[in-house]
Amino acid sequence: VNVKAIMLNAITTAARQKGMTGSNPSVCAIACTKDGKIVAIGKTSYGGRPHAEVNLINILKRIEAPANKQLVLFTTLEPCSHYGQTPPCTKAIIESNFFDTIIIACTDPDPRVNGRGIKQLIDAGLIVESGVLADKASQDIYKEYFFARTNQMPFISLKLAMSLDGKIATVSGDSKWISSEQTRKWTNFKRSFYDAILIGSGTYMADNPELTCRTDGLQAFSPKRLVLSNNLTLVKDGFSIVKGQNGIAAAVKDIYNQGVNTLLIEGGARLATSFLMQNLVQELVIVKSPMLIGSDGIDGVRFLQTLNIKDAKRFDLQNYFNIDGDLVEFLTLQA
Ligand SMILES: NC(=O)c1ccc[n+]([C@@H]2O[C@H](COP(=O)([O-])OP(=O)(O)OC[C@H]3O[C@@H](n4cnc5c(N)ncnc54)[C@H](OP(=O)(O)O)[C@@H]3O)[C@@H](O)[C@H]2O)c1
Repeated sequence: VNVKAIMLNAITTAARQKGMTGSNPSVCAIACTKDGKIVAIGKTSYGGRPHAEVNLINILKRIEAPANKQLVLFTTLEPCSHYGQTPPCTKAIIESNFFDTIIIACTDPDPRVNGRGIKQLIDAGLIVESGVLADKASQDIYKEYFFARTNQMPFISLKLAMSLDGKIATVSGDSKWISSEQTRKWTNFKRSFYDAILIGSGTYMADNPELTCRTDGLQAFSPKRLVLSNNLTLVKDGFSIVKGQNGIAAAVKDIYNQGVNTLLIEGGARLATSFLMQNLVQELVIVKSPMLIGSDGIDGVRFLQTLNIKDAKRFDLQNYFNIDGDLVEFLTLQA
C-alpha cells in the first residue's frame, strides 16, 4: 500500500474544505483495503458535524462493507476522544468493527484530545501509525487551527490595501477603490476561509461595509462580522459589537470564546496599529496598488513608536503574487 499517496489524497481533500467546517477542523478520512484500494471517503460536514470518521462509517454501512476488521482507516487528524456535542469518533471507529489499522497524519493539540484518541484506539487493540505526512497536513490544513488550540486565541491575519506610499485612504477618508476589481474579487473569496472578520468602528462608520463573501457558491461560508468599539451600541443586522475597553488581548480572547479560530482584520489604521503594537498579528496580507496618494492621505499603520531601525517590526516574506497590476504579499512577524 502506498501509504503516503493515500494520505496525500486525504490532505488535499481536507484542505479544499478549509473554512467550511465551522469551528471544527477540516478532516478527511479514507477507508482502504489492505492492498490499497479506496473503498470510501468521508469528510467533515459543512458547519463541522458530523465529523469525517462518522461520515465515512455511515457510507461504509450504506454500501454494506463487511464489518470484519479488514479495512485500513487513513485520517488527516487524530480522531476525537471526548464527549462534546457528539460522541467520540474513537468510539464510533472501534464499535464499527470495520478497521484493524488506523493511519493518522497529525495528533490533535486540543487539550481534550492530545494523544488520548490514539491511546483509546491502541487500548482497543487497533494498530495505529501516527505522523504520516504530518508536516504537510499541519501546513496545508491545520496551521491556523493548531495555532488557535495551542495558544487559545484565534490565528489573526491583517489585510490592508495600500497605495505605493502606504496610504489606505485619501485625506477625505475615501478608499474606494485602492485595489483593482480582480484583486477585490480575490480578497472577497479569501473571506470564506475565516471564521470571523473584525473591523474598527472608524471603518464601520466611514465605509458601511458588508464584509460578506460574495463568491458564487461560497456565500454560505461568509464569516461572522464583528466591529470593535467602546462607544457604538447598535450595528446593522448580521454584525456584532466587540468591546475593546479591557484591551485588545481581552477582546481577542472574547472572540476566541465565540468559537473563532481564524480572524481576518480588514482595517482600519487604528485597529491595525493596535494589533501590530501588541504583536497579535500572525500573518500580514498587504495588497499594494500602483498609485500614490500623498502624505495628506491616511497611513495604513500609525505610530509604532519605533526609535531605532534595529527595533522596527520585521517580517518574513512568505509568498507574493500579482493580480491585475496589484502586488499581494504574505508576511509573518519575525520571532
Ligand atoms: N484600504 C484599506 O485596506 C482600508 C481598510 C479598512 C478601512 N480603511 C479606511 O480606514 C479609515 C478608518 O480607519 P480608522 O483608523 O479611522 O478607524 P478604525 O481603525 O477602523 O477604527 C478605530 C476605532 O475602533 C475602536 N476601538 C476600540 N478599541 C480599540 C483599540 N484597542 N484600538 C483601536 N481601535 C479601537 C475605536 O472606536 P470607538 O470609539 O467606537 O471605541 C476606534 O476609534 C477609513 O477611511 C476607511 O476607509 C481602509
